[in-house]
Amino acid sequence: MNQLQTMEIFVNYSQKVSIFSKPEVLADNLACELLNDFKNCNRDRFNIALSGGNTPKVLYQKLSSYQYRTKFNWNQIDLFWGDERCVPPDNEESNFALVNQFLINNIDIPTQNIHRIKGEKVPEQEAVRYSKELKQHFNTGDQYPCFDIILLGLGSDGHTASLFPNSKNLGNKNYCSVAVHPETGQNRITLNLPVLLNARKIFFMVAGFNKAKIIKKIILEKIISKKYPASLLNKSRRVKWFLDKAAARYLI
Ligand code: 6PG
Repeated sequence: MNQLQTMEIFVNYSQKVSIFSKPEVLADNLACELLNDFKNCNRDRFNIALSGGNTPKVLYQKLSSYQYRTKFNWNQIDLFWGDERCVPPDNEESNFALVNQFLINNIDIPTQNIHRIKGEKVPEQEAVRYSKELKQHFNTGDQYPCFDIILLGLGSDGHTASLFPNSKNLGNKNYCSVAVHPETGQNRITLNLPVLLNARKIFFMVAGFNKAKIIKKIILEKIISKKYPASLLNKSRRVKWFLDKAAARYLI
């Protein structure tokens, strides 16, 4: 039995990387970390940008559980998105729809605290509107908004949010921009690197064997390249990786 098979919870692989036996255990520990960060926040607002895709569903379900939803003061929490697909909010592809179904519908959070990217709008116009909403909410003048936490996923090609390999978005200094999925051609709105890097904490949540090779490149080989946009964030000391053992198979 290797160390993880005997370890019920996790291996603290490094200061930045924690590995968990399965996604449910990962989600429980990440929810606990989010709760601790919220409780330790000495500001009157707690701003978090959420991720889309399939992986975070188990986290949103965990945050919706009685064990957690009753411990957050949702009145103090503002929900944003790291990216959105340019589809209506009730579309099954929508990242808002994912969070709405598995979190928002299960918690008592004021509507005005939910800052969705409006995927149904004209992409270029929505990127401008969302940037203005961020500027107004964070009231930071020409500085980049500083999220308390940005939750990110990782594509097997190394993309994160909707920052895709070698894309022109990687050099974009605006708060957010329009991206195009390289395979489907789907328009996306994404937060850009300067905003992601300005967060107090960046949590990557990664699970599944299909992410093991990209995790090996970014964490074990420490590659930093526009070919793997998530790697451009890994240079930050504010990044923490939450992996299940399938995604971490080459690390252990
Ligand atoms: C999205 C996400 C994207 C996602 C990765 C991983 O809109 O899809 O922002 O960056 O986190 O593609 O997706 P899975 O969790 O589905 O593997």
